[in-house]
Amino acid sequence: MKLTSRSVSRAVLVSAVVTATASAAVLVATTSANAATTLGASAAQSGRYFGTAVAANKLGDATYVGILNREFDMVTAENEMKMDATEPQQGQFSYGNADRIVNHARSRGMKVRGHALAWHSQQPGWMQNMSGTALRNAMLNHVTQVATYYRGKIHSWDVVNEAFADGGTGARRDSNLQRTGNDWIEAAFRAARAADPGAKLCYNDYNTDNWSHAKTQGVYRMVQDFKARGVPIDCVGFQAHFNSGNPVPSNYHTTLQNFANLGVDVQITELDIEGSGSTQAQQYQGVVQACLAVTRCTGITVWGIRDSDSWRASGTPLLFDSSGNKKAAYNSVLSALNNGTQPTGTTQPTTTTQPTNPGGSCTATYAEGQKWSDRFNGQVTVTGASNWVVTVTLSSPQKVIATWNTTATWDSSGTVMTARPNGNGNVFGFTVQHNGNWNWPSLSCRTG
Ligand code: XIL
Repeated sequence: MKLTSRSVSRAVLVSAVVTATASAAVLVATTSANAATTLGASAAQSGRYFGTAVAANKLGDATYVGILNREFDMVTAENEMKMDATEPQQGQFSYGNADRIVNHARSRGMKVRGHALAWHSQQPGWMQNMSGTALRNAMLNHVTQVATYYRGKIHSWDVVNEAFADGGTGARRDSNLQRTGNDWIEAAFRAARAADPGAKLCYNDYNTDNWSHAKTQGVYRMVQDFKARGVPIDCVGFQAHFNSGNPVPSNYHTTLQNFANLGVDVQITELDIEGSGSTQAQQYQGVVQACLAVTRCTGITVWGIRDSDSWRASGTPLLFDSSGNKKAAYNSVLSALNNGTQPTGTTQPTTTTQPTNPGGSCTATYAEGQKWSDRFNGQVTVTGASNWVVTVTLSSPQKVIATWNTTATWDSSGTVMTARPNGNGNVFGFTVQHNGNWNWPSLSCRTG
């Protein structure tokens, strides 16, 4: 008997019981997957984090803090580390509210994303009217002072936020900072690196999710240029504020992968999706799957905890309702993070053998393949016989939409596939359109 395991790191234990009958051996195997039950723990299974924006003035709200401490392992200050908050008067720095968030997080083992060192928006009044060299120096001093103050405590800094224009140009946004010279962004990154060499340094923006949009291309070219010239950039943040007018693009995975291919990490930094019910849940699932499909997508942060905490509360864009209950979107995110394994207590996929089969025994082992928002690949390795017949049983409403290295037939329900060799060896594969059901198929092997 041979058992599958998803991966070494997941260490999913599968127990199986073999029952032999006179004519054929039948294997029945059941187990409970140790699927994680919180966002942070489920993301951690693949080495990723799951964070939220936090507002300092909510740290006295027991429901809020209860969810924060239970679910998340990364925190971003929603407003408290912005330029107007940390340097309200020029040269006078103020870290009280930011520290409350940082201390809350760090004392509980959560990490912190710093947001944001340089931005055209939420500038203190004194800075808004500055220009030229004075503004450039004030900005660089701000970056240096704040990044130095938090040195060693920040996982990733949004060094520069939202520097590109919307629309079809792919150009920089006009701002007082931009008018100090096109090199203001790289100057900010160099100052941040000098101040905190241990923090990952990110460029962060919105409307950069669709690969075919000019703004996405503009940011991509800047990151490509920075990497080519040795400007210290480690990551790109995708804010990911979605709604019906700006839905999750179908090429999201492509966007994340193309940026990662430049040699930077990618992070989803301010995720919220307006909507409700299963539509919203599916969109969240698609975002999580896009991140999981990209090795260098290192974590996801949602922009608030309950809908009532959101900066866009009327769009109910978050994972918990205003009373703190988990929404459908929460469940879809959790299950996507658990990579399609079932919650604890449900049946796991099994492999089967027929040790008493006169034709010889065989073993079929399942391995997960690539996953997309609507489908996933599975691969089966057969050992023990070359004249194998593997039965692949899907869970409704799943459907196989492609196969390779096998000749396959289906029963009338369309959920039981019988796979035989087609001359291409003993490893075959198939694509399952999951229709919302991410369960693995179960397998049995006989010879024939
Ligand atoms: C928002 C906050 O959520 C609000 O509380 C504040 O009034 C405005 O800023 N892009 C960003 C975030 O980078 O800092 C913004 O946060 C949302 C858009």
